[in-house]
Amino acid sequence: MKKLKKLVVGNWKMNPSSLAEAKKIAGDVKRGVKNTKKTQVVLCPPFVYLYPLSGVPRTSVLLGSQNVFYEEAGSYTGEVSVSQLSQCKTSFVIIGHSERRAMGETDDQINRKVRAVTHEGMTAIVCVGEKIHDQHGDYLAIVKKQIQDALRDVSKKLLDHVVVAYEPVWAIGAQDAMPAEDVHEMALFIKKVLRDMYGILADGIRIIYGGAVNTFNAQHIIDGGYVHGFLIGRESLKAKNFVEIIKIVDLS
Ligand code: 13P
Repeated sequence: MKKLKKLVVGNWKMNPSSLAEAKKIAGDVKRGVKNTKKTQVVLCPPFVYLYPLSGVPRTSVLLGSQNVFYEEAGSYTGEVSVSQLSQCKTSFVIIGHSERRAMGETDDQINRKVRAVTHEGMTAIVCVGEKIHDQHGDYLAIVKKQIQDALRDVSKKLLDHVVVAYEPVWAIGAQDAMPAEDVHEMALFIKKVLRDMYGILADGIRIIYGGAVNTFNAQHIIDGGYVHGFLIGRESLKAKNFVEIIKIVDLS
């Protein structure tokens, strides 16, 4: 595997309930990863906390948002643009999370968002993942189509600004993560899909895993899954656990 910087992303979803708590978590994470050298850490709070947390970004801890809109400005009630995000020192954007897909976000909208984000020099964390993982193997075709649709017309020179987050929907919020060997199979498959699209340049795209990652399984998944890092939900709200996972990734 090409040596790319490792990446651990915390997706706070619609949490925590107060700005004070958000500041506390971000501060604790920032202090906790002071000596982390090889791993990029990205905190993705709700939109309203981005500006108050915009003092957080340093070389190793960065800010990301959980969504974005693809138009530059105008009459789009409730939406937030890429340039507005960049003013809050946001450099990553999670796009196409399964929870947003479940609310009706389409592959076409996801593709527009990926193009808007990468075009402006931010990094798109493109979420893909199947709802069911059974012996019929339909999950391969589903994940392939999600990747191809999300990256349609994204040029080769922007690939440094793309991360693929493989999150099997059934593992999100679950008790157990996907077994490391299966994560490895999916990482290889995703790499093949990307290679077929972009050739050798695809090796510059980091592939991370998300779904029930915690302090107990992180070592096993990072060792056996051959991914570049994690996208973490629940455990990213517990600064101590999140930092522990980051250290596991950093030392692996
Ligand atoms: P959990 O880590 O809580 O399973 O959530 C995963 C996720 O959805 C991250 O985007």
